Amino acid sequence: MLERYGHGGDLRTAEECFGLPSSSFLDFSSNMNPLGPPDAVREELARYAAYIDRYPDPASRRLSAKLAAKHGIEENAILIGNGAAELIDLVVRALRPKAAAIAVPCFSEYGDAIRKAEAVLYEGLLLEAEQFELNQRWAKEALERSGAELYMIGSPNNPTGALVEPARVKELLASGATVVVDEAFMDFVPEEKSYSLVQEASRHPHLFVVRSMTKFYSIPGIRLGYIIGHPESLAELRRLQVPWSVNSLAQSIGEAVLSDEAFAQKSLRWLQEERPRMTRELEALGFRVYPGVTNYMLLRLPEGCGLHSRELQRKMGVEGVLIRDGSHFPGLDERYIRVAVKLREQNARLIDTLRTCMYGTGGQ
Ligand SMILES: Cc1ncc(COP(=O)(O)O)c(C=O)c1O
Repeated sequence: MLERYGHGGDLRTAEECFGLPSSSFLDFSSNMNPLGPPDAVREELARYAAYIDRYPDPASRRLSAKLAAKHGIEENAILIGNGAAELIDLVVRALRPKAAAIAVPCFSEYGDAIRKAEAVLYEGLLLEAEQFELNQRWAKEALERSGAELYMIGSPNNPTGALVEPARVKELLASGATVVVDEAFMDFVPEEKSYSLVQEASRHPHLFVVRSMTKFYSIPGIRLGYIIGHPESLAELRRLQVPWSVNSLAQSIGEAVLSDEAFAQKSLRWLQEERPRMTRELEALGFRVYPGVTNYMLLRLPEGCGLHSRELQRKMGVEGVLIRDGSHFPGLDERYIRVAVKLREQNARLIDTLRTCMYGTGGQ
């Protein structure tokens, strides 16, 4: 099983499962920006030898200052972490909720962090009939039934790719609960200004926003993310965080990539072209493609294609193409897969391999 450790992008496990060298896989099971990393990353790597013998800045001050300027917020409303994953875990540990709610399907670390904190977990189902949208129905039911002191939601959500209307978050906040919004993929969204809650989180004592730098800048190996919250609310997270959790190379790379505005613009243009094109081609193969804004797509397998997600993942893996088996997400089953959006020729290989694995070489 490719998701042995709960996530996509595990090339070592792919090697063991499918008997091919890790370098030979085309990986649609994790969602990195295929245009990255930006050139500045290579330059930082070359400079790194000069400062590897020093401790990193324990407060990542230069990077915090750059992020504060990018978002137009105070520096002390930001805490940098070793990937968004560290901050998801840290915020739940700091808040110590007795009961917490998530909207499934979603990123598995929300539920894992809540279980580790021994809180009661409410999993409110997003419905296929509602295109997996976190809507008023969901919010109303969760408020009535969950007893949650903490809501953890993804916007855009993973694996659905759907944004959450800020009005829904405000409804949840109005109950007095704390809300953590994971905006790990928000950099890919051209309408970021209308959907991101970064500004509100910097002022509201019960709202936090988690951001990742690993997806958009394609640097998952370096581990870099940040959380935005009211400075007083962040104090407990700062207290609990492991010292020097963010190494000096990660800090410098973070600073460097933030300066590359051309990379950001090019990435937005690429996604606006490739996602609609790939949607059309996948629909022509019989897939149901759910509406979303991200560099990954949730798909339902064509009725009558005779394959489950696990079998399709295995057949694709043998061909050297990795996809995500949707059945590992609570709230989904073996009718669903998730694929990344990559460069045009890579996407074409995905489509061809799907066609071959589902229908044989002759096409649909
Ligand atoms: C929705 C979501 N949030 C957070 C993360 C973790 O990101 P990071 O690599 O910054 O820890 C992931 C990684 O897959 C994700 O999909």
